Amino acid sequence: MSRFNHRKYRPFTPIEIKNRTWPDKNITQAPIWSSVDLRDGNQALVEPMTVEQKKELFALLVDVGFKEIEIGFPSASQLDFDFTRWLIEEDQVPEDVTLQVLTQARPELIKRTYEALEGAHRAIVHVYNSTSTTQREQVFRMDKEGVKQIAVQGAKDVQELAKQYPQTEWIFQYSPESFTGTEMDYAVQVVDAVTEVWQPTPDNKVIINLPATVEVSTPNRFADQIEWFCRHVKNRESLIISLHTHNDRGCGVAAAELGLMAGADRIEGTLLGNGERTGNMDIVTMAMNMYSQGVDPKLQLGDMDRIVSTVKAVTQLPVHPRHAYAGELVFTAFSGSHQDAINKCLANQSDDKPWDVAYLPIDPRDLGRSYQEIIRVNSQSGKGGVAYTLAQEYGLSLPRWLQVEFSPIVQNYAEQDGGVINGATMKQLFEDSFATDSSPYQLGRYELSKDKSDTIRADIVTDAETLSVSGQGNGALSAFCHAVGQHLDTRIDVIQYSEHALGGTDSQAITYVQTNINGTRYNGVAKHEDIVSASLQALLATVNQYLLKRC
Ligand code: KIV
Ligand code: ZN
Repeated sequence: MSRFNHRKYRPFTPIEIKNRTWPDKNITQAPIWSSVDLRDGNQALVEPMTVEQKKELFALLVDVGFKEIEIGFPSASQLDFDFTRWLIEEDQVPEDVTLQVLTQARPELIKRTYEALEGAHRAIVHVYNSTSTTQREQVFRMDKEGVKQIAVQGAKDVQELAKQYPQTEWIFQYSPESFTGTEMDYAVQVVDAVTEVWQPTPDNKVIINLPATVEVSTPNRFADQIEWFCRHVKNRESLIISLHTHNDRGCGVAAAELGLMAGADRIEGTLLGNGERTGNMDIVTMAMNMYSQGVDPKLQLGDMDRIVSTVKAVTQLPVHPRHAYAGELVFTAFSGSHQDAINKCLANQSDDKPWDVAYLPIDPRDLGRSYQEIIRVNSQSGKGGVAYTLAQEYGLSLPRWLQVEFSPIVQNYAEQDGGVINGATMKQLFEDSFATDSSPYQLGRYELSKDKSDTIRADIVTDAETLSVSGQGNGALSAFCHAVGQHLDTRIDVIQYSEHALGGTDSQAITYVQTNINGTRYNGVAKHEDIVSASLQALLATVNQYLLKRC
């Protein structure tokens, strides 16, 4: 029999709740954010951060705008102790930032925690013990009362020791660890017992952090737990309800979002979701989700490259190229129809209009990314992407008929090359295909005169000789077609023509010409300061293609 046996597992037992309100709510304001990158994130690393790396990450977290930062577990780690001392002694903590540290509910650890924090202007002492059925029965082998007493004793120790450091403004935080695996009525009893010790008031609140230490249910069931807890806990108005979700089922952000709708005030998480096992809830994603709905997340995520590179450096973990908002490919379109739609919507977009661009939920420029990065051309891309790249990078506005002609050439090249084609390669391919205006025929001197029709006398230079041709037509280009056609004894018709000035410092114009020579279509392109010369050269480029094909 297969070892893959779903009967081995039990379904999560949801809390019964009537008239839940969270499904009708929307997130309309940012929560209080607390970064636990330097503690939970750090604890989960193969190689924990060095002090230097912690300093770098702390500076980033401050710049991003976190006002509460859990910096470590100083009673359990000498490095965290030293880092805490450095932050305080070197006056590294801005006035509006509150340090947070974690400690287990054990007297000797709590004492050491306060020693680490001596001299801080304000600090959150975060005490926790595990309350879940599994941990009570199998890890601690203790009954409910015994586990509750650990929490109560921890709360008392935290309160007593704080009195020895009156120069610091203390904020207390309690986490019933493994909250989601705890009976809800018991979780409420434990938290009530803790707050009975701390006696918070609406002006002097305490933080009650409800961790999904392991994510065990769908986010709606987690939200039910939060709403139920908020309804039943005593003295709700004196509590800051905080959530700390992990991502075991891949829904850490969704759970935190629904939990916020269910009544929470504060969210703990990490930048890009590093943390135990599948990680903590990702604050970048949650904050950007708010931002994309027109809600100010109260975090500055505009320098996403710095966030990504710092997090990668200190965690020594990669960031997936498809990571929401932060991955290097998330604003990139390869497919032709996506590129085409993005191209059209971007052309309609202006700074005074709400953002409304197909396939791009947010403006990549808000995260420091450029539009150039959006469209990447490979063998799946269509003419829109090719046209976009040549226009953005080289100011070439290819007419639609030429886009249609050039796109298969690019696709063919990409199929053989097997990768993304950059702008420079694309331009080279474009010139090789169409700007063939010097061999075998090159335009020499020419003269135009006008009588009833336009007349041209022109020299065509080859490697061996200079040919003189002349012809008449309705305009210079048509006269030149006539002249070259007579010389070659073939009919040349111009079927498409387009021109534009090249921007920037270039005072040149570019012309795009499509001819029909002897029943076959040819495309030519040429640049020149003089628009007539550019159009004659473009025509000659099509003639050269015909001649090369003929021989
Ligand atoms: O995941 C968890 O339960 C924790 C607690 C210590 C808050 O990290
Ligand atoms: Zn955690």
